[in-house]
Amino acid sequence: MAPAVAKPGEMHAGNLVLYTDQQPVRSDLLGALQGIAPCTVLGASETPPPGPHRALVVDLDLLQPSPLTGLRAIIANAPGLPRVFLMRSMGQRSLSAARGLGSRLCLPAETPVDTIVAALRTQIGSAERERLKPGPSPVARAAGATGAVIADLFDAARRSGAVDAARIDEGLEPVIEAVGVGGLGSWLATVRAYDDATYQHCLLVTGLAAAFAIDLGFSVADRQQLVRAALVHDVGKARIPLEILNKPGPLDTHERAVMREHAAVGHAILIQAGGFDEPVLTVVRHHHEMLDGTGYPDGLRGDSIPDIVRLITICDVYAALVERRPYRAPLPAVAAMGILRGMEGKLDSILVHAFARAVEGS
Ligand SMILES: [Fe+2]
Ligand SMILES: [Fe+2]
Repeated sequence: MAPAVAKPGEMHAGNLVLYTDQQPVRSDLLGALQGIAPCTVLGASETPPPGPHRALVVDLDLLQPSPLTGLRAIIANAPGLPRVFLMRSMGQRSLSAARGLGSRLCLPAETPVDTIVAALRTQIGSAERERLKPGPSPVARAAGATGAVIADLFDAARRSGAVDAARIDEGLEPVIEAVGVGGLGSWLATVRAYDDATYQHCLLVTGLAAAFAIDLGFSVADRQQLVRAALVHDVGKARIPLEILNKPGPLDTHERAVMREHAAVGHAILIQAGGFDEPVLTVVRHHHEMLDGTGYPDGLRGDSIPDIVRLITICDVYAALVERRPYRAPLPAVAAMGILRGMEGKLDSILVHAFARAVEGS
């Protein structure tokens, strides 16, 4: 069956497609459909022209043996395509055949054409509104990508410990680019919307590390290493009981001791998983060490704490202060920075100064 009406050049401009086995084609139906848009008429076994299509009308006897591959392809390629099936029978077999093909609306074939057209126009209108909806911002997309990597990391660490180092690396560039292009402020605002406190924290630390690395002028490799270390630094929390991890308030002495195990546990998980270099492993174990020896798990002090650990510790402390929790408001940036500056002797004050510049300047 030849295309009935489509004018040259209009085939790709969102034609309607009418699949029909009626000979001759119902002129009342075709005329009404052409009132919406040019209409391509196809027989049951015919292949549709390339899309995009505006809508689909199926006027076939679905109980006739026919593979309907063209029709199936149209729907598979455009699951949201507005469509109406005109049914020769509203019996169960016909309706389930229509459902199997992806019908949305089945109308008896004898439905007045005005009703068919009105139903199609309604669907076309909502598809258009859907299409015009603003998509997620680039920062939200990046946070989603890195957030998914963090979710996979915690899932693997919780279940088997089989953390995939290559999968972690998929979370690095989205955050580096988002922070580099969109600025740290939009990253922090976006990831604060995460309800899960641990994921939110890891995304904050990761974004802060990216901003810090960019501001310090790190090489690509060093930048990636710092962000990688930030992304995995709290992986050991995957093994901390949720009632402690998500407790809405201060931890008691016992709970605090359990929570502190996350540093050594995370270190052990990543060693067992393999694929992580020594600086990253060191960050995971030692990011709660303080220069004055009051940190954990090993009470390291001074020079025994490498620079990469000092950098992540600063990001970590700052993130914990500014993150959003259900039971307390985030601390304003100025107040959080004031606390960091007050931790002289515990944090590297030269690096705190550089961190303030990176955060406040971005
Ligand atoms: Fe930690
Ligand atoms: Fe942390």
